[in-house]
Amino acid sequence: MKILVLGSQGMLGRSLVSKLPGFVNASFPAIEVIAANHAQVDITQGSDTSRFIDQTKPDIIVNCTAFTNVDACETHISEAFAVNATGAKHIALAGKEAGAKVIHISTDYVFDGTKNHSYVETDSPNPISIYGKSKYNGELAIQETQAEYAIIRTAWLYGQYKKNFVTTMLDMGKKSGAVSVVTDQFGSPTYTADLSYAIWNVISKDLQGIYHVANTGTCSRYEWARKIFELTGNKVSVHPVKTSDYKRAATVPQNSSLNCVKYTTASGHTMRPWQEALEEYLGTML
Ligand SMILES: NC(=O)c1ccc[n+]([C@@H]2O[C@H](COP(=O)([O-])OP(=O)(O)OC[C@H]3O[C@@H](n4cnc5c(N)ncnc54)[C@H](OP(=O)(O)O)[C@@H]3O)[C@@H](O)[C@H]2O)c1
Repeated sequence: MKILVLGSQGMLGRSLVSKLPGFVNASFPAIEVIAANHAQVDITQGSDTSRFIDQTKPDIIVNCTAFTNVDACETHISEAFAVNATGAKHIALAGKEAGAKVIHISTDYVFDGTKNHSYVETDSPNPISIYGKSKYNGELAIQETQAEYAIIRTAWLYGQYKKNFVTTMLDMGKKSGAVSVVTDQFGSPTYTADLSYAIWNVISKDLQGIYHVANTGTCSRYEWARKIFELTGNKVSVHPVKTSDYKRAATVPQNSSLNCVKYTTASGHTMRPWQEALEEYLGTML
């Protein structure tokens, strides 16, 4: 089975490319991974994208590309839509033409965050930021092409290879001994290594449709930060603040925690609790 990973230099893309070869099993004893970065394929260019996919002839395409800077999306609107929406459509059209299934990575930010419980796949998206809107448009574009697809909505990613909330907290804590973190944003912190395994499950079990995949459990960003310092033994004061105390370009959902029961039932795999995944990730930084 040939798997093309687009966005192979991103945080998730790099994790997936490094992990995939280790997931082979009796049913899939050999997989070939083709890693393509932004320089090799610019997904905003439809003909380049389809030429690359036509030449490499993958069975599966995993789209890990995105314009992910949520605040920058507010001022780079056409770029955000070009990558997150039109780019996704180009991949799906090319995949359909080449007979490849598309695994598209999407986000909890397609929701408005007003629900009191975690979001299930049948909840209606209502994005409140340009990032969320462009990613939701990407989901719709993929479905409209009628390509074979699975859309994986995930959340609050961290892992090796890129600056993320965990590394930012550790850096800030080291510099000043104190951080201020919001108590009124709730979500599901998710380790890219665990998501990579879930993506493999979606591929190898041939799951179709939309799935929520995140590490189990929900916390506020404040609780997440406290856990980071507890697990690393760093004596850093974590001051609770409100979202309204911060001025930022994008509006983000208050609660975007994801219910992953559909994925667990379909795949037979339960994502581990976010605290366990975080502990393992912090261990890799020692
Ligand atoms: N990070 C999170 O907290 C989070 C949460 C929920 C969902 N997600 C989703 O998870 C996926 C992976 O996120 P991530 O954090 O790994 O993102 P990332 O680290 O920002 O990586 C995105 C990659 O996409 C590439 N890219 C951007 N524009 C492109 C284009 N026009 N053509 C080809 N490649 C392009 C980037 O390359 P350059 O850097 O060279 O431009 C980068 O390597 C995305 O779909 C994202 O929406 C992320």
